[in-house]
Amino acid sequence: PIKLRISEAASGAELGAEVKVQGWVRSCRPQKTNLFLHVNDGSSLQSLQIVASSELNDPLLTFGSAVEVTGILKKSPHQKQSVELEADQIHVIGECNPVDFPLKVKERHSFEYLRQFPHLRCRTNAFSSLLRIRSEATTAMHSYFKENGFVQIHTPVITSNDCEGAGELFQVEAPSTGNEEDENFFSVPAYLTVSGQLHLEVMSGAFSKVYTFGPTFRAENSQTRRHLAEFYMVEAEISFTESLEDLTKVMEDMFRSATEHVLAHCAEDVDLFHKHVTPGHRETVDSMLKKSFPVITYSEAINILNRSSEKFAFPTHWGCDLQTEHEKYLVKHCGNIPVFVTDYPYDLKPFYARDNEDHPEHTAAAVDLLVPGVGELCGGSLREERLDLLRARLEEVGLEDIYSWYLDLRRFGSVPHGGFGLGFERYLQCILGVDNIKDVIPFPRFSHSCLL
Ligand code: 4AD
Ligand code: MG
Repeated sequence: PIKLRISEAASGAELGAEVKVQGWVRSCRPQKTNLFLHVNDGSSLQSLQIVASSELNDPLLTFGSAVEVTGILKKSPHQKQSVELEADQIHVIGECNPVDFPLKVKERHSFEYLRQFPHLRCRTNAFSSLLRIRSEATTAMHSYFKENGFVQIHTPVITSNDCEGAGELFQVEAPSTGNEEDENFFSVPAYLTVSGQLHLEVMSGAFSKVYTFGPTFRAENSQTRRHLAEFYMVEAEISFTESLEDLTKVMEDMFRSATEHVLAHCAEDVDLFHKHVTPGHRETVDSMLKKSFPVITYSEAINILNRSSEKFAFPTHWGCDLQTEHEKYLVKHCGNIPVFVTDYPYDLKPFYARDNEDHPEHTAAAVDLLVPGVGELCGGSLREERLDLLRARLEEVGLEDIYSWYLDLRRFGSVPHGGFGLGFERYLQCILGVDNIKDVIPFPRFSHSCLL
């Protein structure tokens, strides 16, 4: 027999062939003369129907058990599937006691229930679809950058800098050896990265267009539906930028191109979400892709918020940071499509943001992309490439020594440049309509929780 993945077997390409498939039982229905099994191996949403003589029934063939089946692929007389496997051998590889197994046959478990079992939830239709979409969306992001001439950089996970300066660093320590000289493994305090931006800035000074896509860590104490302690970020950095428009164009193109890729390559899995898990969300996604994304300045955003009749928990004024409630309101106000907010107050942004000296209010050339259901999806800025201005700002915060290498970048062939970061889990939330960020990552880490 030829060994096939279930998606290949179900495609109908091998009708009449003797095949072997392996997977996990999704349902088992013994009848008088025949036994019907559905087996899934994660290669697609589809399970393969297995038909066998009831003599092949085995009490160990239960929901969740692992099996190997050989037989002939036939055209199915049933409407639900086009292909079935007429089995001559069914072998239980791994038993699964249905009484102890936390997943129950034919039951639609809530995401909240499933979160207790990060080691088992991938065996449900919804979560396995989600993880296939996540995998394809990863490919989509890489494809976008490859097609547009970016070089991928592996930025370090361990770093000695705090890019965002927001005090959300996890410190990295080695076990004590008892030897005082070894007390500090790196001889300097080291942390898990909060952003690869500064390392990308180094590389953009040689390759012009670079990106990175990897895990990012923040000691966020807030328990929200859009924050994790470990999340994946897609970051790009581009040299020779002239204005924020050079960045917003890439952000919008990347969003569109990745989303179209996912809709085209994961149609079945995306449909499961848009039809059954988050019904109605497809219209939101389609409308996001139809129009170009509006751009408003922070000052305009504040005017909109000040004029609104909505009662916000945090009242707004020029200079305040935008909260999730404000971001969601702005998205609705702009027609429930993604919207760029530009030119934030200078004091709200980290030291690297470029000073908009020519503006009447003191702002920085920074931009956030806000999206339906989530709020902030991307954050980016032009970077301060002028040595004197950057040095003055670093001196103000007492960081000029730590960042002497960063100042060097402004001394040796400095060019106007900028970049942004996209929260990959928030992106998945946005295109699938998933309410809680913990449900779009295989193994969520957040305060008071590090299962597995
Ligand atoms: O806005 P942030 O903090 O921007 C930066 O880190 C820049 N240095 C990126 C750059 O310019 N290269 O983070 C970028 C995005 C946010 O817009 C958000 O989508 C996501 O990362 N993000 C989180 N996602 C999940 N959990 C968290 N705790 C997150 N913090 C930020
Ligand atoms: Mg931000």
